[in-house]
Amino acid sequence: MAIRFVLPLLLVLGGIAWGGAPLVGSLVERWFRTDVEMRSQLVFNSIQESVTGLVLAKADRKIDALFKHITQDERLLALGLCTPDGHLTQRSTAWPKALACPPAPALDHAFTVQHIDGGPVLVATFALAADNTYLGRLVILHDLRFIERRSDSAELYLAGFLALLGLGAAGVTVVVARLTLRGWIKAVRKGLAGGSDGRDDSALSPDVEPLVREMRKILRNLDAPRVLAEAIRLDWGPDSLRSVLRDELPGAEVMVISNREPYIHNLEDGKVMLQRPASGLVTALEPIMRACGGTWIAHGSGSADQSMVDENDHLQVPPEAPAYTLRRLWLSDEEQDGYYYGFANEGMWPLCHIAFVRPTFRASDWEQYVAVNRKFADAIIAEARTPNPVVLVQDYHFALLPKMVRERLPEATIITFWHIPWPNPEVFSICPWKEEILSGLLGSSILGFHTQFHCINFLDSVDRFLESHIDREHSTVRAGNSTTLVRPYPISIEWPPTALASQPPADECCESVRRKYGIPIGTKLAVGVERFDYTKGIADRFHAVGSLLEAHPEWIGRFTLLQVAAPTRSRLAAYRETQVEAETAAAAVNERFGRNGWVPIILVPKHHEPEDVFTLFRAADVCLVSSLHDGMNLVAKEFVASRDDEDGVLVLSTFAGASRELQEALIVNPYDIRSMGEALHMGLSMPAEQRRERMRLMREMVSEHNIYFWAGRMLLDAARMRKRRNIEYSIEAMTRSAIKAGDS
Ligand code: G6P
Repeated sequence: MAIRFVLPLLLVLGGIAWGGAPLVGSLVERWFRTDVEMRSQLVFNSIQESVTGLVLAKADRKIDALFKHITQDERLLALGLCTPDGHLTQRSTAWPKALACPPAPALDHAFTVQHIDGGPVLVATFALAADNTYLGRLVILHDLRFIERRSDSAELYLAGFLALLGLGAAGVTVVVARLTLRGWIKAVRKGLAGGSDGRDDSALSPDVEPLVREMRKILRNLDAPRVLAEAIRLDWGPDSLRSVLRDELPGAEVMVISNREPYIHNLEDGKVMLQRPASGLVTALEPIMRACGGTWIAHGSGSADQSMVDENDHLQVPPEAPAYTLRRLWLSDEEQDGYYYGFANEGMWPLCHIAFVRPTFRASDWEQYVAVNRKFADAIIAEARTPNPVVLVQDYHFALLPKMVRERLPEATIITFWHIPWPNPEVFSICPWKEEILSGLLGSSILGFHTQFHCINFLDSVDRFLESHIDREHSTVRAGNSTTLVRPYPISIEWPPTALASQPPADECCESVRRKYGIPIGTKLAVGVERFDYTKGIADRFHAVGSLLEAHPEWIGRFTLLQVAAPTRSRLAAYRETQVEAETAAAAVNERFGRNGWVPIILVPKHHEPEDVFTLFRAADVCLVSSLHDGMNLVAKEFVASRDDEDGVLVLSTFAGASRELQEALIVNPYDIRSMGEALHMGLSMPAEQRRERMRLMREMVSEHNIYFWAGRMLLDAARMRKRRNIEYSIEAMTRSAIKAGDS
């Protein structure tokens, strides 16, 4: 029996080492080359517009400077610019002397590999055109020598490993021969799941350990281009996002799932009115859907929503320039009470935010939460046209959805983003359905939070309450059969924001806002823009205004805080009380300090559309964001984006995720009323030059780390995971045929 097993096995392994190593080498080469081509395309997409503009303006020196900046990336060898008749007019320093202008590409781009100075170089040629006039071509050179080195190592590892395994096979006993195919593959897959150096491999069977180690090395090499792609500083915009989708996830169908819909139709005085909701989630996701297209499934909550959809409950949006499909899903009052008001907003919301409002968990709410999650899962299955869509699940309303979708669409790429904080395990343990919530979320391929801190809290919660394997180095969790990557992706906004396009200059905004609210010109203006939510610290900021006026009476009559706040979730007592508390605090400060028709606080409890909010931002000297706890807070980023005049001061709570990125804001503790008053004083008195420097730095941060960058990173990670899975499948297939040969 042993001889019957060992001999054929040795023969088969020898055969695989002989034929398989070059195969793996060429596979690796092909993968890397595709990656480098994609990088070239991304670089071209991000500079195409600038280069075209500079060519038209004949700004040669600026082109030189741009080339110099771009070629700082180590593998990007050189850039060159050719005239339509093939003269090389400009090139960066490392352009090889021997290389002339490549011929014009037959289509709009071409990739060739040339051997220059003893090494392979990828020559990517892109046609440049403006208004249908051919301007020449941009050539991007990448050094490909690293691919050869890596594919050599991949071959060596595979051949070495198979040789080792072949020798070891001589000692393999009849027991090994009886290893079932299923058990073996399972062990390899388990070992490969998020493998890393220095991890505890004691649980691995000695049979699979060497294979797992070697394959991990190959998989790690595959990660290198992603790291490089992230390192290149690209100007992320709708085009780069589209090209990531096209090149890295070809043919992928994009679906967004959220509770709040991006466009609400309400009936007001017999007329249908369109409203864009006050929701950071919608602000962030809507530009992505406009760029990528696809289907957005959400609760149709507007009073006129039903009258606007077709027979499939579909509506093409945005209304002025349709780019994607909104699928509205209807919920009964009972479902809304249990799932939305109850479990999501009286349970999960206070559980995840430290605002000292007690979470309430009721079994009846939980039942509705489960049922509504299932209803959305059904809608996803009904809408999906492919077996492997990219499903973007949003927020705490849908903790169970990822697992429900995974069970029915096992090949889907499910990216879940949790827009609010994640509590520590002790707080999380309050939730009676904590295991269900965790395992529901672990149906995701990727689970994103705003900060590393929230990722750690999540991993700690899984560690405490669920049986799973956590790889902290790679931030992955393996529970059951699926692996979830848990990573921070700080969310952001569209850059430049659509609402900015229609804005008048900042001084006109100053005048119009002051005129509208009866604030004398020359009065310093602070603004606050919020939903009436207890996490936003609205009453606290009013107390801070009181403290400012008490400590610095020179501001009496010379400063106003204009607070607009959209009523929200008003069926819940905690929200009604928040509004009453804020109104009482504003009245008390106004009563104490107001005089001669002037009041320090103007409170407008009304929803404002994005354009109006941007006008307020542009009119303000200070924007005040005093959240008691906030996942990110996009108001802070929108304020920065609205100030293309590079003026204005941001006062920002240290408990908002945004304070990690917007470090040039005046960072405050909203529980410390006196220091918040002092920060207001500092903001109002800040010299213009300092305001400008701070604002410039913050604008740089938000423009680079915009919403396309956020989505692009998640999609690149998702694409990488899909490729890893494919490699695992091919290893399985190889292993399967090797074992089959051994058995026969
Ligand atoms: C937060 C949540 C979003 C929600 C928004 C508005 O930003 O993370 O999911 O859409 O608040 O709240 P609402 O309940 O009105 O949708």
